[in-house]
Amino acid sequence: MGCAVSGLGAKADFGERSAEHGDAAAAADAVYPREEQVQMIKESWKVIRDDIAKVGIIMFVRLFETHPECKDVFFLFRDVKDLERLRSSRDLRAHGLRVMSFIEKSVARLEQQDRLEALARELGKSHYHYNAPPKYYSYVGAEFICAVQPILKDRWTAELEEAWKTMFRYLTSLMSQGYHEQRRRQRHLALSSKERPDKRNTAL
Ligand code: HEM
Repeated sequence: MGCAVSGLGAKADFGERSAEHGDAAAAADAVYPREEQVQMIKESWKVIRDDIAKVGIIMFVRLFETHPECKDVFFLFRDVKDLERLRSSRDLRAHGLRVMSFIEKSVARLEQQDRLEALARELGKSHYHYNAPPKYYSYVGAEFICAVQPILKDRWTAELEEAWKTMFRYLTSLMSQGYHEQRRRQRHLALSSKERPDKRNTAL
């Protein structure tokens, strides 16, 4: 595998803390990429986008190798024992492309922070329904970085790495908030539907 990326976990994990301390504290933690980082990300994306299908596959095969617990979340892949087989799987290719299209959309919206924030929160909400909890999100950024480094070759710099990490921390922070919002909403709905029959009894 030969690629180690540090510094993505700590802040991305804050979604767990936000559940305890509230979304305002969490939002303050989500640092937005600086202007020069935005430009660096956009420039590098022009090169990466030619290989998005390949990057999507490499990213997810690596994710399942380094964190096998993530594979269990995927109905389609949980029973696949031989990860090499996944490299030629149409399903994984399609899934990788969905994730990479989201990254593409995010890069395109880097200059529209409100829209990007809404997009990432919604994605976090849908991940609540996929049973994919925030503690796993930071792994994806790390695997993305490992997958794109060989494509960018000597264009890859420490500054560019920091720019992509900042973007992934930001996105996964918002996804975590969306996930927790949705979890609270579902719990609230479950509680109120439990309470309803009691109320009916009192009225009788
Ligand atoms: C930066 C982190 C991640 C991003 C940007 C991301 C993005 C996406 C996108 C764009 C989709 C397509 C459906 C939709 O738009 O709702 C999706 C689906 C899904 N994701 Fe993620 N995801 C991330 C992390 C994870 C992790 C860590 C897991 C599991 C451990 C996961 C599990 C799933 C599952 C089960 C689906 C539904 C199945 C499918 O569409 O093939 N995701 N994700």
